[in-house]
Amino acid sequence: MSNKTVPDPRRLMARPGPRAALVSLAVGVLAAGAALTFASSANAATTLGASAAERGGRYFGAAVAANKLSDSVYTTVLNREFNQITPENEMKIDATEPQQNQFTFTNADRIVNHATSRGWKVRGHTLAWHSQQPGWMQNMSGSALRSAMLNHVTRVATYYRGKIDSWDVVNEAFADGNGGARRDSNLQRTGNDWIEAAFRAADAADPTAKLCYNDYNTDNWTWDKTQAVYRMVQDFKSRGVPIDCVGLQSHFNSGSPYPSNYRTTLSSFAALGVDVQITELDIEGSGTTQANTYRNVVNDCLAVARCTGITVWGVRDCDSWRSGGTPLLFDCNGNKKAAYDATLSALNNGVTPTNPPTTPPTGNPTNPPTTGPPTNPPTQGPGGCSATVSLNSWNGGFVATVRVTAGSSGTNGWSVGMTLPSGASVTNAWSANRSGNSGAVTFTNVSYNGRIAAGQSTEFGFQGTGSGSGMSPTCSAS
Ligand code: XIL
Repeated sequence: MSNKTVPDPRRLMARPGPRAALVSLAVGVLAAGAALTFASSANAATTLGASAAERGGRYFGAAVAANKLSDSVYTTVLNREFNQITPENEMKIDATEPQQNQFTFTNADRIVNHATSRGWKVRGHTLAWHSQQPGWMQNMSGSALRSAMLNHVTRVATYYRGKIDSWDVVNEAFADGNGGARRDSNLQRTGNDWIEAAFRAADAADPTAKLCYNDYNTDNWTWDKTQAVYRMVQDFKSRGVPIDCVGLQSHFNSGSPYPSNYRTTLSSFAALGVDVQITELDIEGSGTTQANTYRNVVNDCLAVARCTGITVWGVRDCDSWRSGGTPLLFDCNGNKKAAYDATLSALNNGVTPTNPPTTPPTGNPTNPPTTGPPTNPPTQGPGGCSATVSLNSWNGGFVATVRVTAGSSGTNGWSVGMTLPSGASVTNAWSANRSGNSGAVTFTNVSYNGRIAAGQSTEFGFQGTGSGSGMSPTCSAS
């Protein structure tokens, strides 16, 4: 019992490894946001995922149903617009462990493979929940249920180890309404510590995935449920329970409207030292009203450095669990709605974070891209390509934005090499695959940005420590 109250030292110190790296990323995200304010609209990204990636490496995703992956209208929109997936039902307990200790991952794997083969992130949803339990689990209680739940968490998180960016370890454990109590459920009745027990089991099974608590009606900062989740996360952080993030489902409609203090909620959770994500966004309504609410949600996320991504709960209105409320960004034919245009333009406008970096950038953020021929001429591929880098630097770090431009006949893929100054190293990159992190570093296209038409450009970015000045990229096309 007593070890429950002993802080996990790995959570109190910034230990090496992916979770520690996130701490340093937070500063870079702030700097990236500041730099991106200068992006010109002529170069604006044309898809949600690409634009979110340019906003400090954020993602823009969608909930996906495995049985829709054979619908070409659906996959055309999905593959074009998004760079993150959450399985809508396929990773829930009833889907992955339909009989006790018999695990089925076929449908979840289809979704995971769709995402990982394209370099997208996957949110695992969800390991422990009162709902969508298989019959055998619904009938369990007490220590047998506690063990079965921990076994489920361990087996599923182990199976997907290394493939999941973030896990919704526990979903919807708090009650609605006043009082901020836990929701009554068979899991809750196994003891109040069931949530932290689930997080510790997930951490042991997959030490690199980010571990999240996810809920709805936690958007309004003044609601008791929001405050209760806040106090739980604060308590977990103070005792070293392994938690990395909080998901706000954000299913908005007249009963649970978008609140004007939403940004306060996001920034308050972030201030506890966790990432926040908008995990199941849908906004019932239509036309300008709906579009404006989507715009507000995006602006609020972009204003909070640790709001690392947004997932909409479905692709087209007809795919929605609340299709009658037409709450999504595409109509049933896959056409973009006004809500889509508002979302993309809010992403492209990329508001500057309200909380400035502790160490202000010292470089000149308007640093123009290198003009004229690069010092080292690019290796010519079929049509060749060239690359320029612009920097936003501060004392001890930088964010580099690299623009890749196709030559006379376009590219199928590209590879950009550059030598980092001595003492500099890359901590994080977006919209490109990377090999090496200091000295000679190579970036290659990801699935969605390898093809560039003749004379057109794409951008990727990376964050580094040390000084990035004087880098001269070379580009080779395939
Ligand atoms: C919903 C799915 O969209 C439906 O297809 C399913 O019938 C019920 O669950 N909160 C959650 C999601 O965490 O898992 C829910 O998804 C929506 C509410």
